[in-house]
Amino acid sequence: VSRPELILALPEDDQPLYLRVARAIEDAIRGGRLRPGDAMPGSRSLADRLGVHRNTVKNAYAELIAQDWLRTQPSSSTFVSPTLPVMKVRPSSGARDCGFAMPALALPPADNWAHLGGAQLNFWGMDPQLMPVKALARAYRGALRGREVPPLDYHPGRGHPRLIRALGAMLSEARGLPPDVDLLVTRGSQMGLSLTIRALLRPGDVVAVEEPGYAYSWPAFALAGVRLVPIAVDGHGMIVDSLARVLTRTPVRAVLVTPHMQYPTGVTLSAARRLALLTLATRHRFAIIEDDFVNEVRYDGPPVLPLASRDPTGVTIYLGSLSKTFAPSLRIGYVAGPSPFIERLTRIRALVDVCGDSVLELAVAGLIEDGELQRHVRRLTRVYRERRARLAGELRARLGSAVSFEEPAGGTALWIEVDPAIDVEAWAAAALIEGVGILTGRLFFLDGRPRPYLWLGFAGLAEDQLGAGVAGMARALQQLR
Ligand SMILES: Cc1ncc(COP(=O)(O)O)c(C=O)c1O
Repeated sequence: VSRPELILALPEDDQPLYLRVARAIEDAIRGGRLRPGDAMPGSRSLADRLGVHRNTVKNAYAELIAQDWLRTQPSSSTFVSPTLPVMKVRPSSGARDCGFAMPALALPPADNWAHLGGAQLNFWGMDPQLMPVKALARAYRGALRGREVPPLDYHPGRGHPRLIRALGAMLSEARGLPPDVDLLVTRGSQMGLSLTIRALLRPGDVVAVEEPGYAYSWPAFALAGVRLVPIAVDGHGMIVDSLARVLTRTPVRAVLVTPHMQYPTGVTLSAARRLALLTLATRHRFAIIEDDFVNEVRYDGPPVLPLASRDPTGVTIYLGSLSKTFAPSLRIGYVAGPSPFIERLTRIRALVDVCGDSVLELAVAGLIEDGELQRHVRRLTRVYRERRARLAGELRARLGSAVSFEEPAGGTALWIEVDPAIDVEAWAAAALIEGVGILTGRLFFLDGRPRPYLWLGFAGLAEDQLGAGVAGMARALQQLR
């Protein structure tokens, strides 16, 4: 591995030059930039770099050898003393704290889910084995070497025109959106949501969200000074009557919903509630932010068309993502909505990100155009259906009446109600000791207080791992009892 060139800043003082060179090297060792055993540059090359005489460097080395910072070998190479303790990487000079005023900001804790990181079996995430890496590599090659000039320059706008066309065709054919729908390509739906917040909301505005709901989105609202009002969810999705009651007291600027597969419960918003929600939005002129993050993965029943496909009054802002059907790290999402809104979003996006990753966008357009993405989703859905059945079977067999759940018609997780006699948080902590990571109900509620639910994702674990994971959960439960 080639190491970066050593850069030394000589202290500005009246000491002899060779001592200043020696102190700069000592600082580099203390700061961890030079580590025990590292070879030092030859005296000539370092002297050239510093613009000093070679003897100055030789004298500095001699000084540091005398103090045992450096050693030398018979072959005359010089290296950092291998017996020094490894220093922490921390510059000996230079500030760690802000020297400028930084106003207070209520950021959410960064480590809300961090305690789960260490498990061998995690009931969340994706399975890298299932990702179509070869197809993506081919598509990238195509994007860079194809007949079109590779899109390497700045390209402000809504995204690569071919991806806009391919997504537009997909949304109108498979999801009933208008064929000429206005679209902006974003880096994942989280960016679509953040841009929407910026474009639409002002401090003090009220937004209604599902509870339990997509907690990862909530801090983005909080950061903008927006107040969230929770609306409860039952077996038919968000209880729209509760929203109607809130509207009699408080003007609501927007409602965030996951109508197709409610996150995290997996239920579908009933037809009556869909109509009621669209009617309320039209009457009260609020926006419906429809998060349809996992539309394609459906096992049972006919596909349910998005609210955005039945929106004559232009009240929906439709967020989509390839995170669940391709890979979360690709960061491809999109926003569809009324033209003036997409225009505004596009202009804000240009200020945040200038333009998207156009090579990736062209590659993904190719994958959609030649049907590769659609074939991949069909494969994924087959595998996930088996995993859903396996997880459900294991839970029934090993945990019995401790848990109850419905198998969701789509998506990648089970939402599980836990016997209220069981301390869910203690169970999750015991499971972690068994090497199994599970998400508990409190992570999906605004107040973060314990709730008798578990969210178990089955997309990231192979069938035998799902079995092993549930076995670990059962052992953990046994210990609690
Ligand atoms: C409810 C919900 N919306 C959206 C997303 C996708 O986010 P992104 O497209 O930013 O990766 C997820 C991913 O977990 C999700 O659970």
